[in-house]
Amino acid sequence: MKDVVLKVVSLKKTFCRKNVRVCAAADISFEIKKGRCLGLIGESGSGKSTIAQIIAGFERADEGSVFFNDKECLVSRQDFNSRYGMQLIFQNPESSLNPRMKVREILFEAARYLSDLNKEQMEKLAKEVLSQVHLPDKYLGRYPYELSGGECQRVAIARALMLSPGLLICDEITSALDVLVQAQIMDILKGLKEKGISILFITHDLALAEEICDEILVLKEGREVERGSAYDIMHRSTKEYTKLLIDSILTVKEYEETT
Ligand SMILES: Nc1ncnc2c1ncn2[C@@H]1O[C@H](COP(=O)(O)OP(=O)(O)OP(=O)(O)O)[C@@H](O)[C@H]1O
Ligand SMILES: [Mg+2]
Repeated sequence: MKDVVLKVVSLKKTFCRKNVRVCAAADISFEIKKGRCLGLIGESGSGKSTIAQIIAGFERADEGSVFFNDKECLVSRQDFNSRYGMQLIFQNPESSLNPRMKVREILFEAARYLSDLNKEQMEKLAKEVLSQVHLPDKYLGRYPYELSGGECQRVAIARALMLSPGLLICDEITSALDVLVQAQIMDILKGLKEKGISILFITHDLALAEEICDEILVLKEGREVERGSAYDIMHRSTKEYTKLLIDSILTVKEYEETT
């Protein structure tokens, strides 16, 4: 279909450590259309990051297919050419930015494959992407250690935007941030979604998932438990696992708020 940006078909991945087999993806299939957001939720160890890593080409799948903009990406190899335009953003912004580089160099480096851009065009693009993450131009001259956690995460998003991505894979990108900063990042993501960027949104925070996701897929031990609209999953699920997941996460939140 024309507006399907990401299509994942029957992904399978098992890890084997000390003779113990762990299933991280068992026949996982889904698709994300242009400008839409799919949430992946599930308890710790349910396979969310593994699926993200396979899609982005950092982890090999045992079986299955990934199609990005109708082109098949090899799931058995780090085939980054067919994944051009797909960007993965991680949980810990400080450690995903090179501490020895200023923001300008970090952004320029991301775009160095766009070889037809000269220095002035690169500078213009860097300023544009910084403004998309609501940071002023003067941040181009700063090092990561001169930025707060939230600002680092915004630079990580800006770096992803340097390559005009069609898909952002966000793996717990707000988990290390406080609530106010989370809200700023969510606003940025919503703005990007409105501009037509598709998002795979992995989170433990179901309130955030409901805020941005059009659809949510619930995972347990690498298997799909259910999927549906964000509202249906959050408020109408009949599955015990999903209800437990929602209750346990709310309980942890309530506990944190009272301490
Ligand atoms: N490289 C690896 N080698 C062996 N086992 C792995 C590896 N990566 C992941 N696993 C295992 O695969 C399962 C799924 O892990 P994954 O990191 O995808 O879970 P997750 O849903 O992202 O968890 P969390 O919410 O804690 O981030 C876990 O049992 C994990 O221990
Ligand atoms: Mg994870």
